[in-house]
Formats: sequence, C-alpha cells, structure tokens
Amino acid sequence: MEKTIIVSNRLPVTLSRKDNKVVFTPSPGGLATGLAGASKDMNSVWIGWAGFALDGFHDNIEEIKLNLEKQRLIPIFLNEEDVNQFYEGFSNTTLWPLFHSFPTYTSCHEDQWEVYQKVNEIFCEEVLKHAGEDDLIWIHDYHLLLLPGLIRKKLPKAKIAYFQHIPFPSYEIFRILPWREQILEGVTGADLVGFHTHDDVKHFLTSIQRILGMENKMGTVRAEERIFKVDAFPLGIDYYKYREMSMLKSTERQVGLHRKQFQDVKIILSIDRLDYTKGIPERLKAFDIFLEKNPEFREKVSLLMIVVPSREKVQLYKNLKMEIDEMVGNITSKYRTVNWTPVLYFYRSYPLQSLSAFYKLSDVALITPLRDGMNLVCKEYVASRNDESGVLILSEMAGAAKELSDALIINPYNVEECANAIKTALCMPLDEQKRRMSEMQYLLAKYDVSKWTTIFLKSMEEIVQKQEELAMK
Ligand code: F6P
Repeated sequence: MEKTIIVSNRLPVTLSRKDNKVVFTPSPGGLATGLAGASKDMNSVWIGWAGFALDGFHDNIEEIKLNLEKQRLIPIFLNEEDVNQFYEGFSNTTLWPLFHSFPTYTSCHEDQWEVYQKVNEIFCEEVLKHAGEDDLIWIHDYHLLLLPGLIRKKLPKAKIAYFQHIPFPSYEIFRILPWREQILEGVTGADLVGFHTHDDVKHFLTSIQRILGMENKMGTVRAEERIFKVDAFPLGIDYYKYREMSMLKSTERQVGLHRKQFQDVKIILSIDRLDYTKGIPERLKAFDIFLEKNPEFREKVSLLMIVVPSREKVQLYKNLKMEIDEMVGNITSKYRTVNWTPVLYFYRSYPLQSLSAFYKLSDVALITPLRDGMNLVCKEYVASRNDESGVLILSEMAGAAKELSDALIINPYNVEECANAIKTALCMPLDEQKRRMSEMQYLLAKYDVSKWTTIFLKSMEEIVQKQEELAMK
C-alpha cells in the first residue's frame, strides 16, 4: 500500500539529554502539534531532524534510531556547524524574519546559504531511501524550500506536496532575498503548494510570476511540461482532543486549585514561543495602558503570560528575553500590591494538561502576534471553553483571524486599541460571550485537523489526475 512520507525540519519529538540520559519531549510550535494529530490517521513515516547537534553526543545512535523507528519516525542527525548555519542561521535569521515581514531583522550570508543547500540535500538523500513509486512525499515548512525541486530532479514522476506553516511575504519583501530564484525553483518542484491563507497564496503567485515568469489560472500554474496547483488550506486543530481534555476530572481539579488561589481576580491568558513575531512587548504595553487608564481594574485582573523558550542561541531572541523581563519588572513594580501581582510571568513550557487547565481557567485569551502564519493557541483556547464562556482577543495579523471573526479583532501595533479591547472583553455580557464562542467552536469542530488533511490530500489527488490527463493529450 502506498504511504505518506512526511518531511519537516523537526520530528514531532525532540531529543535532548537530562541527567545523562536521552529523553524525548514533544516538539514546540504549530507544525508539530498540528501535524502530530493528522499523522496518526495516515499510513505514514515522518522524516526530520532529531533536534540536537551530533557532536559530543556519545549515546548509541543505532538504539535511538530503533526506538524512533517503532514510532515510524526517521531521524536526521546534523553536526553543530550545520545546526548553526542551517537552523539558527539561514532558516531563522534569514528566512524567518523575511517571511514574517521583518526585513530589517533579516541577514543574508553566503556561507549559511551554502549549508542550507547542503542540509536540504541531506534530507533529499534520506527521502530517496524511503520513497516508493506511488508514495506521497509531503514536505513542510521554510527549512526545506529547496527539497521539492531536489526530489523532482531525482524522481521526475514523484508525487510531491509542500505546505508552509508560516506566512509568505509580499513580492516587495520577498525580492530582497539574494537567492530568490533558487528558492522559488525549489518550491515549484511540488505538485501542490499550500499556505494557510489566500493572502499568502496571492503573494506567492505574484512572486513566481514576477521572478520566474510563471503565469497561473485560478492557482493552477503551467511550468514548461508540468502543471502544479497553489491553494490555501487553513490548518485546524484536533478539536475534540482539547475539548475532552478540558472536561477531564483531573483538569477540573487543577482549575479548581488555581481558582482558589486567584479568588475573584479575572485571568487574561497569553501563551507563545518566545519570538519577536508574537508581539509580546506590544501586548505588555497594552496591558500597562489598560491598567493606567482603568484603575478600577487593578487588583481585579492579572495577565497570566506563558512564554515558551525558543531558538535561545539566536541573538535577537536573547535580546527579546531581556526586553520582556524588564517590561514585566516595570509593570510589576508600578502596580503590584501586597495581595496582587499584575503579570504572572512564566518562562517555560507546560504539558498539555496544564495548558488545558489554563485555557479553562482564563476569562480572556490575548493572542496578539505582529505576524503569524496561523496561530493554533487561539484555536486551542476556543476548543477548551466547554461552557462557552470566555473572550478571545485576536490579532488581525494571525492567519486564524480570517476564520475566527467572532473574536475581538485588533491591530497589535495599535496598543491603545488593544487596551480598549481588554476592557471590552472583561465587561462583555455572558450571553454575548456564549454567542461568539459557540460560533467559533462550530467552525473549529467542522474544520478540524483531520478535515484539513482530507481536503489537502483530495486536492493533491485532483492535481495528479489533471497531470495524467495532460500527459495523455
Ligand atoms: O509553526 C511554525 C514553526 O516555525 C515550525 O516550523 C517550527 O517547528 C515551530 O514553529 C517551532 O520552531 P522551532 O522548530 O524553531 O523550535
């Protein structure tokens, strides 16, 4: 039977060392959480980086491989130099800021580009070891933009799909990239190219038209002898997993304990990886303005802010950590009382069930990225509100805002607007909360992650069929 080969930079588990032992932990970020659910239903193997640099790692690699193989995971091992240049370098200091429309944070280095090409070739070799003639090769995200083209050269008839979990920038920003042709030639090796939103699709189509001269008709692109399709597929979540988790007795117990501690103080929740795209300083500024302008809310509401460590070796992330620490310190010293802390700040990751308890506990979720491909945290919050209360404040710059129009939608750069939305959320009558929440829940239940996979794979079948018809003409 044909299988699906999922390929992404990270596997859904990351390996690290703790107390001199190798431990496997769930990987951070939307791709791993989103796809881990989808892959369960498929006959698939998953190829990805093991999450650490091989140098100085003396454990039995064969044993680790066997252990992962049982979970149908195939690890790629990279040395420290490759991790620096490929992951921290080209992926996260060139592509990540550029694709999130932060050109001034983007740095371009030829040596990092060289290693990015090399690592994409390493991934290609691994895929070729596993790919059968009828298998679907499903590549994910910006670390592997060259991979569709590399595989196409070796296996001209392969079925290749590419899905990008982060935004695609406008042509004016994308054109900055010195290697723009090579990058687009890589992606356009796929039969189906997917993004979260129609805006991303539009931007990508404009770039391939202006840079590679490829024209499209309703998203179908003709490139010499081939055709391929570009379309939007907004990623959903495993809706019932979050809903059921929020209803577990153990979750309720945890919520009860937190409630006892916070008493009548309302909780506003924010959860993100530490990243400058997430708008954390702007969010803190908005919360500061809110407390300044509305003194009657002091001691009545706290911001519960969870920041998950991420890309800690990249300088911009280190700087951001210091900025956030300082801002939290300033707000705390300005407003704190003996009985009340305005910002409850945690710099760590939490297991799923604790997150579920936080979702259920919180009266408001404040999700305000400056730019985000989709953002699944806001969807998880909505799914966890089984009594339909709660208000979501959501940035218009998150892909999810296109679907969740019943949230309070704000521009995250407009901190005054965000401060006003916090007040509106805290004062929103329960019947309005329920009306908005149930609309969003209906949508998320309908377009969950398994529906997303089905729609994506169906679209893949359609384009493959069209190609076959074309070949017969
Ligand atoms: O969801 C977007 C994404 O960039 C994924 O591709 C990535 O795995 C995740 O965020 C977390 O980032 P990282 O893998 O660098 O820890």
